[in-house]
Parts: sequence; C-alpha cells; structure tokens
Amino acid sequence: MSELVTVTDDGPVRTVRMNRPEKKNALTMAMYDAMAAAIEDAGRNQALRCVLIAGSPAAFCAGNDIGDFLKSAGEGGALGAPIMRFLYALARCETPLVAAVQGSAIGIGTTMLMHCDHVVAGNDAHFSTPFVGLGLVPEAASSLIAPRLMGQARAFSLLVMGRPLRADEARHAGLVNTVVTADAVEMEAMKAAREIAALPPQGVLASRRLMRGSRDDIVARIEEEAAMFKIRLQSAEARAAFETFLMRKRH
Ligand code: COA
Repeated sequence: MSELVTVTDDGPVRTVRMNRPEKKNALTMAMYDAMAAAIEDAGRNQALRCVLIAGSPAAFCAGNDIGDFLKSAGEGGALGAPIMRFLYALARCETPLVAAVQGSAIGIGTTMLMHCDHVVAGNDAHFSTPFVGLGLVPEAASSLIAPRLMGQARAFSLLVMGRPLRADEARHAGLVNTVVTADAVEMEAMKAAREIAALPPQGVLASRRLMRGSRDDIVARIEEEAAMFKIRLQSAEARAAFETFLMRKRH
C-alpha cells in the first residue's frame, strides 16, 4: 500500500500531499496524524520556511472519511485525537501555509484552507462544507474564521446552507488567491511557496503573527465546535446521512 500522506522537502519548501486518490483523499485518522506531524515538525525546523499542502488531480480532499464518522458515532462521538492534533497544528502553526487545490475540496478539505496564507485553485476546483446536511456543525474554527473572511451572509451560505463555491466564487469570497488551469496549479503554488520562502524569515514570522492575532480564540473555537460536533455525530440525523452516503452505490 502506498503512503497515504507523503512529505517531501525541496530546499525551504515542505510539500505535504494527501495521497488516497481512490477515495478522493478522504482523511483517515492515520492521515490526520501524519499531516499534523509534518506541520509540527516544519515548525521546529528553521530551514523549512513554507509548507505546501496538496492533494491529487481529481480531488484535493473529500473531507473526513465518512466510515470513520459512523464508527466514531458508535463510540461516543468524540472527534478522534488525530483530528484534534491536526486542527491544533493548523491553528498553532507558525510556518506559512500554501495550498494547491484541484477538484473537490469538501468539509475539512475546505476549512483547512481557512488556515492557509495563500491558496491556488484550479478552474475545476469546487469548495463545499455540507456539515449541516450531514447532521453536523462546522469545525476547524471555520464558524469563527469564515464570517471574518467572507462576511456573515456568504459564510452562512457555505457553512450552513452547504452551497458550494466554484473556484472563481471562492476567489471573490477571499478563500482563494489565484485561479489557474488545473494543470498549472502545482507549479503556481510552488512558485508562491518559494516566493514566501525567499523573504526574510523573521520578517515573515513577525508579520504573520501580527496579522493572525491571538491563536487562543481560534483554539477555543476549535474546542467549542468539537464539543458540539460530538453531540451532533451521535444524532439520528448524522447516522442516517452517513449510512445514505455509504450505501448509495449498492442500490
Ligand atoms: N468518506 C469516505 N469515502 C469517501 C468519501 C468520504 N468523505 N468521499 C469519497 N469517498 C469514496 C467513495 O465512497 C468512493 O468509494 P468506492 O469507490 O469504494 O465506492 C470513492 O471515494 C470515490 O468517490 P465517488 O463518490 O465515487 O466519486 P465522485 O467523483 O462521484 O464524487 C465526491 C466525489 C468527493 C463529490 C463525493 O465522493 C462526495 O460527495 N464525497 C463525500 C464528501 C463529504 O460529504 N465529506 C464529508 C464532509 S464533512
């Protein structure tokens, strides 16, 4: 079995790639752990000045593995420790984060982008957070960050109504910096990562800290959302939605 997350360092840029294309890069616990470890480790390595998060051509990330959600629901509903570790890693990360998005970015596939500093999307990319339709609530502090980023109305449409954004709409909403053809996404994202990495590192660090402000409110919101998520995961609404998704091809 190939590695589900690959980590490659090229000079000052670390690429963390989700590599489960046959499942559209739906994230498993092991994948969250591997991604968290790669981001945490980059923060300890001064030679690494930017982390690039990437997926596969057909999918950036289809969100949390829905089979895992169903399993968690039967085990008390808590978001697993690897998920929390990944969310904390995103929130506390000091290394600039760039993302290269092709195809689907769903659930955490979209909300992780709210922690990134520069997002390049292919014109085939689409972003959605069908939390409420799945009986759930938003996570990754998206309930705090999205309204700040795109305003209450657009955030409600995305996070609560579950309306997807096309790449150009995501750019207008402030979630995406640049839209390019799908085959140019990786190159463009690497170009941005190298550009950031070439800047004076202490200046980048200090500016990023100033712009992001306190991490405490982000971490507090991640925990508040996780407490509600735990309740919602065990709801009849959520179980029914997960089962419908997992059974859909068998009918
Ligand atoms: N969890 C578990 N498996 C998933 C998954 C997820 N989040 N997303 C996709 N997969 C699996 C599918 O079950 C399918 O597996 P199979 O080939 O063994 O049947 C495989 O990945 C390919 O997905 P498929 O739905 O056939 O591809 P598609 O191109 O028609 O659609 C998506 C792609 C991403 C739009 C669709 O898979 C989807 O909506 N996924 C669920 C997204 C979601 O709701 N995530 C949770 C957010 S909180």
